[in-house]
Amino acid sequence: MERTFAIIKPDAFAAGSAGKIIARIYEEGFKIVGLKKLYMSKVEAEGFYYVHKERPFFGELTDFMSSGPCVVMALEADNAIAKWRDLMGATNPAEAAEGTLRREFGSSIGENATHGSDAPETAAFELSYFFNGLELL
Ligand code: CMP
Repeated sequence: MERTFAIIKPDAFAAGSAGKIIARIYEEGFKIVGLKKLYMSKVEAEGFYYVHKERPFFGELTDFMSSGPCVVMALEADNAIAKWRDLMGATNPAEAAEGTLRREFGSSIGENATHGSDAPETAAFELSYFFNGLELL
């Protein structure tokens, strides 16, 4: 079993799609071991995405992620990291495969409905950024 970190981003939350996305998560066989709704501050978004701080889209990304409530989750499954990335689809919804979450719920490369960790080290950092051990049961 592996854990990954996932976000239902502000665009999908504002559109009322959180319930549908959570239903897909269960249908695909993930166990949700942590879940909370939160409203990230700009500083919290900058800390979360610090690996992207030199990228030209960093300001736009952190403005968007702090623009409204989102849902953060810890997901557990065999190969959870790759499995969740497969379910999300490509970063750009226009390039995401039919049936993926970003294809269905995303609207642009920035407003792409969901986030997921890309590697075990990233998952460890991202999970610990929003959850403490007692919250992951
Ligand atoms: P995410 O998986 O949350 O990780 C970093 C995010 O940066 C990514 O999803 C995209 O939403 C965002 N991103 C990547 N490239 C661009 C871009 N060119 N313009 C705006 N946002 C981007």
